[in-house]
Amino acid sequence: MNHDAIGVFDSGLGGLTAVKALNEILPNENIIFFGDTARVPYGTRSRQTILRYTKEDVAFLRRHPVKMIIAACGTVSSMLGADSPVEDIPFTGVVYPAANRAAEVTKNGRVGVIGTPATIQSSSYETALHNINAGIDVTAMPCPLLVHLVEYGYTDRNNQITRLAAEEYLTPIRNAGVDTLIMGCTHYPIIKDIIADIMGEGVTLLSAGEEAARYAKICLEEQDLLTDSTQQGHNIYYVSDSVSSFRENAKNFLADAAHGQVFSSRI
Ligand code: DGL
Repeated sequence: MNHDAIGVFDSGLGGLTAVKALNEILPNENIIFFGDTARVPYGTRSRQTILRYTKEDVAFLRRHPVKMIIAACGTVSSMLGADSPVEDIPFTGVVYPAANRAAEVTKNGRVGVIGTPATIQSSSYETALHNINAGIDVTAMPCPLLVHLVEYGYTDRNNQITRLAAEEYLTPIRNAGVDTLIMGCTHYPIIKDIIADIMGEGVTLLSAGEEAARYAKICLEEQDLLTDSTQQGHNIYYVSDSVSSFRENAKNFLADAAHGQVFSSRI
């Protein structure tokens, strides 16, 4: 048993999809979140730069007592591959948990993947899916504009700009006849309604952040690191840029991030 917090990081708002899931799955755990909002997006940068940012994000979280780290970022997870940035505490990214779930869920063996340019270029999800089942047919599309639109707050179901961009990216995936879509960037579930409208009924949408949260629970259970507290856990948020714009954009998605403890911090 361990009362330390679970550390979660992302380049920005996307990581909140993992925090939200953790709050539901493990309500008694404390969470420390770091969003590198001063440097978002990561997904259009080089592997070298993304790995340097990752190192700094992890070092920031480790200045706090954390018992596990979750890279709630498809881009970081894709650049790390099977490597862990920490040796002495458990770590997970989002790629393997999401790929595992997709391989379980698909019935027709056709899986779509959307992610940042760096993620799709790395073929991380494809590799993970094929390691589980080489017969899975994968259609992957980079969606470079979506992170900007989410960070900018264009997340309403009726937002025509976001809808148009999503349609452009998702049409080839829908046409490929997938029955499962991995939202391989943690920002995308924030516009899940728009994505669901375009993909249509019968396509299961998987949130990479949510799958990582489920996987984290299993890791903590296995290593006997869950808290035995019966109190509601609390979240603390750190961002590397403006607190007010983080609150503003987070408010429709996770009330706690809009009203809870948010600090601006240099890394
Ligand atoms: N949310 C991130 C991801 O899952 C990063 C997006 C970005 O910074 O480009 O890929």
